[in-house]
Amino acid sequence: MNDPEYVLSPARQLTDAEKELVWLKPLSHKVSEEERRICKEIKRNWNRGEMKITNILLEGDAGSGKTQLAKALSANFGLPYTKVTCFADMDKSDIMGAILPVISSERLKKLDADDQEALKALYESDGFHSATEVLMDVLGVTQEIAALKMKHILKLAAENTEGEAVEYRFYPSEIVRAYQKGYLLEIQEPNVIRDAAVLMALNSALELDGSINLPTEIIRRHPDFIAVITTNRSYAGSRPLNEALRDRVQHTEKMDLPTKEVMIERAMAKTSYENEQVLDTFADAIIVLDKTARANAIKGVAGMRSYFYWVDAVAGGASGIESLYHKVIYKITTDSEEIKILEEALKQQGLLERMDEVEIGLKKNKFLTPSKSEHGGK
Ligand SMILES: Nc1ncnc2c1ncn2[C@@H]1O[C@H](COP(=O)(O)OP(=O)(O)OP(=O)(O)O)[C@@H](O)[C@H]1O
Ligand SMILES: [Mg+2]
Repeated sequence: MNDPEYVLSPARQLTDAEKELVWLKPLSHKVSEEERRICKEIKRNWNRGEMKITNILLEGDAGSGKTQLAKALSANFGLPYTKVTCFADMDKSDIMGAILPVISSERLKKLDADDQEALKALYESDGFHSATEVLMDVLGVTQEIAALKMKHILKLAAENTEGEAVEYRFYPSEIVRAYQKGYLLEIQEPNVIRDAAVLMALNSALELDGSINLPTEIIRRHPDFIAVITTNRSYAGSRPLNEALRDRVQHTEKMDLPTKEVMIERAMAKTSYENEQVLDTFADAIIVLDKTARANAIKGVAGMRSYFYWVDAVAGGASGIESLYHKVIYKITTDSEEIKILEEALKQQGLLERMDEVEIGLKKNKFLTPSKSEHGGK
């Protein structure tokens, strides 16, 4: 059960389909300081008019828990969770949605089977799902491919209705749907968007008392709409988050590789592995590798995901040193020079030695385990 303490609009009735979208915290979820802080802040300001906080930025390291935090907010606030993953070539219809003319059934029959299927699914959709979602579902493709497909369909529909008086239907984007229906929307990596006009459209959707003007209707912002922007910190060569977009954010969290204690807590919850010597040593190694990679401009990341998989490999009986390479180091880089730099850092911090000790301890444990289970232990 999600804790009702921070539910923002207790009187609101969600439909069954909407209830399904509210995130349910798994048992492995650990509440973080950031989560507590955001919840308190938003709850405190919720009925304070212009001081209401509805746009949040979570910026920082890959795997630091930005997406899971956005989902946890959905759980705490009692709001449906939805997301949009931004990409470089996004255009205005990806932000706003698309207006699609309805093709006559004779013309429809002459199209490719794939396009027919897509169009039919769109025409039959109940308006609850966004156009990309409908296409993802019926064609089994990713959000980005679905967005491309939608553009193709729009062109096709325009060609097949030229000169005819036709009916039009509006298909909201995921963003507009969340905006209109009052969901919590995670906007992933909006810094990659190239077109300035598209960024402007996104900015205007984040206006507190805004409305979106479409050719077919005016869409008002639902008072419960919350936008959570999640993005990796910009590094040399990457595009920084648009300033105007940044300026519309009313609360920001700097998301780094968590503290060692939190790393261990999450890994234990996820893998059910409890050997503290292993968890501690591996966490220290990840921290050293993360720092070293940064200091030497090595592009890959040593983060939480690598840590989980490394711990899990050892929990499954693999060697710690061997899996260090397959789960952590090669994920950062496969360049021999860079690997040397990483190895040297581990050695200097005494981690290679500690890992050898871990390895000896693990071998002993393996030896002990069968006799333990004979007595019914686990
Ligand atoms: N509070 C938490 N409790 C337990 N596990 C967590 C928590 N937060 C994150 N994790 C785990 O850490 C991993 C990475 O989390 P998440 O996907 O949220 O990171 P992210 O910052 O969104 O990464 P990316 O930058 O790649 O999008 C996931 O396996 C997730 O389940
Ligand atoms: Mg994420």
